[in-house]
Amino acid sequence: MLKQVLISTAGFLFATAVSLSPAMAGGEAEVLHWWTSGGEAAALKVLKDDFAGNGGTWKDMPVAGGGGDAAMQTLKARVVAGDPPTAAQIKGPSIQEWDDEGVVGPPYHVDAVAKAQNWDSLLSAQVANHMKCDGFTKYCAAPVNIHRIDWFWANKKVLDAHGLTMPTSWDEFNAAASKLQAAGIIPLAHGSQPWQDATVFEAVALGVGGNEFYQKAIVELNMDALSGATMVKVFDQMRTLQGFTDEGAPGRDWNVATGMVMEGKAAFQIMGDWAKGEFTNAGLKPGIDYYCLPTPSDHGYLYNVDSFIFYSMDGKSKIEGQKLLGSLMMGKNFQKVFNLYKGSIPARLDVPMDEFDMCAKGSAADLNYSAMTGGLQPSFAHGMALRLAQKGAIQDVVTEHFNSNMSSHEATRRLAQAVKASL
Ligand code: BGC
Repeated sequence: MLKQVLISTAGFLFATAVSLSPAMAGGEAEVLHWWTSGGEAAALKVLKDDFAGNGGTWKDMPVAGGGGDAAMQTLKARVVAGDPPTAAQIKGPSIQEWDDEGVVGPPYHVDAVAKAQNWDSLLSAQVANHMKCDGFTKYCAAPVNIHRIDWFWANKKVLDAHGLTMPTSWDEFNAAASKLQAAGIIPLAHGSQPWQDATVFEAVALGVGGNEFYQKAIVELNMDALSGATMVKVFDQMRTLQGFTDEGAPGRDWNVATGMVMEGKAAFQIMGDWAKGEFTNAGLKPGIDYYCLPTPSDHGYLYNVDSFIFYSMDGKSKIEGQKLLGSLMMGKNFQKVFNLYKGSIPARLDVPMDEFDMCAKGSAADLNYSAMTGGLQPSFAHGMALRLAQKGAIQDVVTEHFNSNMSSHEATRRLAQAVKASL
């Protein structure tokens, strides 16, 4: 009881101190995000601390749910009600979609910061463009990282004990998984939530179909590619993978699945490198406790840039908050420290990689190689490739197929139909 009183008194004093403090000079920001897992929260703390250290007042608006689908619902309700948060985690073409609604600018306050800090020279043109509004002329969002989606994560002890190495083809993976299954190990830790099914699907589409197929089917929504024989093969591999998951998969959170790999209950997980944030948070090391390797493809690389959009705001303090946030997010040291926790690599091109681990170094090298050879593709499952309606259409069919006994042919037929109807 006493403890409780002390805590709430301390809370009151703290709140009073904050509201009276000259720290308000740094502005205020209500920040909507979905970073609630251990690794994600540790990374976000770097930003929160930086913001507070520079006089900002942070109001946290977490919306739990991996992949951000729940966060996007909450965000939509807030913006439609005319009460957008000061900054919101959002990415890809949704940024421009919101701009089309007239709720982002003009004026685009963060653009002044971007000009002053010359963001154009610090980012690749591809990443920079994702951050721009007003016909791709003004910055209205800031990037904090580049996540790669197409990864296998594996428990080293489990693989070693069964004489297995990391698979470099899907056939090799299927053979290793069958062997593990026969030995009573869950081959694939998975949470069958729509976005996780979509995450696995896009890695399979890139690997089984190839870079050009992914580009045509998933990015350009070409009907022949969406409805053809290669897509049937992609769904075949999805069915095979589903057979390697356990009964508890439906609805499981992604970080719980990562935990299964850490504990050795399961051997592999297919997940973006925020999974590495969980391993890091648990004090585990790549090459020693776990393995990371891109899922098999022809030097493909599915990228996903986390960014924060800054909506139109009234009030000096909120505008100051937006500018401070934008400026901190693009800070060189911030991009290093944040990404060491988050599992991703910096979006800024000039951040030295020497303190990063082998997975991150590999990711940075692969990104450059894939960019030169046509393999660098935007993740559809994480909102980088398509507008929301098309993303939703594909995700719905993928998850319906994965969680039923629908045939690959039927899934392919429905996929093309759903995409067509969404256009
Ligand atoms: C985001 C990551 C996040 C993951 C799981 C992805 O869409 O880009 O930052 O960790 O979802 O929630």
